[in-house]
Amino acid sequence: MSRLVVVSNRIADPRKPAAGGLAVALGETLKKTGGLWFGWSGKTVPDGMPGEGKLNVHTAGTVTLAELDLAEEDVDAYYRGYSNGVLWPVFHYRLDLAHLESGYLSGYRRVNRLFARKLAPLLREDDLIWIHDYHLIPLAAELRAMGCANRIGFFLHIPLPPQQILAAIPSHEWLMRALFAYDLVGFQSEADLLNFSHYVQAEATAEPVGVSQFRAFNSTVQAGTFPIGIDVDEFRRLGQAREARDTYDTTCKEYSRRRLLIGVDRLDYSKGLPQRIRAFGELLREYPENRHSATLLQVASPSREDVDAYVDIQHELESLCGAINGNYGDLDWMPVRYIHRIIARRRLPGLYRACDVALVTPLRDGMNLVAKEFVVAQDESDPGVLVLSRFAGAAEQLKDALLVNPYDIPGTAQAIQRALQMPLEERRARHAALLENICRYDVHWWCRQFLETLAEIR
Ligand code: ADP
Ligand code: F6P
Repeated sequence: MSRLVVVSNRIADPRKPAAGGLAVALGETLKKTGGLWFGWSGKTVPDGMPGEGKLNVHTAGTVTLAELDLAEEDVDAYYRGYSNGVLWPVFHYRLDLAHLESGYLSGYRRVNRLFARKLAPLLREDDLIWIHDYHLIPLAAELRAMGCANRIGFFLHIPLPPQQILAAIPSHEWLMRALFAYDLVGFQSEADLLNFSHYVQAEATAEPVGVSQFRAFNSTVQAGTFPIGIDVDEFRRLGQAREARDTYDTTCKEYSRRRLLIGVDRLDYSKGLPQRIRAFGELLREYPENRHSATLLQVASPSREDVDAYVDIQHELESLCGAINGNYGDLDWMPVRYIHRIIARRRLPGLYRACDVALVTPLRDGMNLVAKEFVVAQDESDPGVLVLSRFAGAAEQLKDALLVNPYDIPGTAQAIQRALQMPLEERRARHAALLENICRYDVHWWCRQFLETLAEIR
C-alpha cells in the first residue's frame, strides 16, 4: 500500500477544531488513512529570508505533520497577495476585487519552489501525492523539475471560472499549463470541469482526447469531477455527544417560541453575507408575521483579516446587522444575532439541530460543507429546511434544497418564507432525499474515488 502524502497550504492538527472546508475534510480523511500532511505552519518569520523556511516535523495520532514556517515577505506575496488577492477573487468570479496588476506572481512561484525543495527529501518512491487548492497549482511542475516521478493528483476546492474570466489573469496560460504536470486534476462540480474543458479548447488550441482526458501544451491530463463530502458518521457521533446535546438544549431554551435561522461561514465576500442579511430584512418587511419571531443567528469566523476586501466586508456586515436590529428589534427581540467567532466543532451539530432553516447563500462557492452538515444534524422526524444558493457547488447534488439566486433579494426572502412555512411532510421528504445523497457521497467516497482514479491512471 502506498503512503498518502497530502500537501495543502493550510494544515491543521486533525485532533483540533478548524474552520474551512479543506482543513476539516482532510483532517477527517487523514485520521482514517494515516500518512504525511505537508503545508504552511501558519507562522511567519518576520526577518526570514524570502524563499527560505524552517520545517518542523512531528506526529499527531496517525498523521505525520510537516509544517513549514515562511518568511513574512513570502506570506505577503504568496498567500495574501497572489493566492488571496488574485486567484481567490478571480476564481470566485470577482474581477472587481482582484489585484491583477500586482507583482505577486514571483513570490507565489518562489514559495511553490520552496515547498517542492522541502517536500522532496521526505518523499518515498511509491508515495501517492495529493496536492490541494489554488495556493499550490504549480507545485507538481516544480516537483517534476526536480525529478519526482510519483503519481501526483491535484484537487481544486474552489470554483474554476469560465475561460473569459480566467483569461484576465496575466499569467493564466502559465497557470493552466502547470495543471498538466499532474496525473489527475479534480474539480468540485460539472460546471468547473466544463469551464476547464472550454478553456483548454479555446486557449490552448487543443481538443479533449477522451471523455475526461485533455491534451494541451504538449501533454495530457486526466480531469474529473469529485464533489467533496463530509464525514457523516463522525458528524453524527459529534451530534450525539454531550456538548452538542447541551448546545441544542440551551439554544432551544433561549429561543423558545422563536423561529431560528442559521448561517455559519468564514467571513468571506464569496459567502454572500450582506445579501443574506438584506434578504432577512426583506423577509421582516414583506412578511410582518415574522417580526418578534424569526431570529437569524449568523456565525462568521474571522478570515484573512489582513486582506483589504475582508476588512471591508466585515464593516459592511456589522452595519447591516446593526441597521436591521435598530429598525426592527425590540426590548424582547433581537432579529439578528451576529457572532464574529469560530464555534467549537463539537457544538455545531446541536446548534444546527435547534434551527428551523439554514441559509447557505454564497455568491459563488466550490462546494460548501455547511449545507451538508446542517442536513446531517437534523432530527429526521422534524427536520429543518435548507435554503441553498444555486451558485454553490453543492447545488448540483442537493437539488431538494430550496435553491435561490442570492443576488435576488426579494426572491431569497420569498424562499425563506416558504421554508418557514413548509409543511412537515414536505420537509421530511426533502430532508430524506438530501440525506441520502450526502450519505452516499461522503468524504470517504470522495477520497476513495479520487485516489483510486489516480492510482489506476497508466
Ligand atoms: P470554506 O471552505 O470556504 O470555508 P465550507 O462551507 O466548505 O467553506 O467549509 C467550512 C467548514 O468550516 C465547515 O466544516 C464549517 O462547519 C466550518 N466553519 C465555518 N465557519 C465556522 C465558524 N464560524 N465556526 C465553526 N466552524 C466553522
Ligand atoms: O476551502 C477553500 C479554502 O480556501 C481552503 O483552501 C482554505 O484552507 C479555507 O478555504 C480557509 O481559508 P484560509 O486557509 O485562507 O484560512
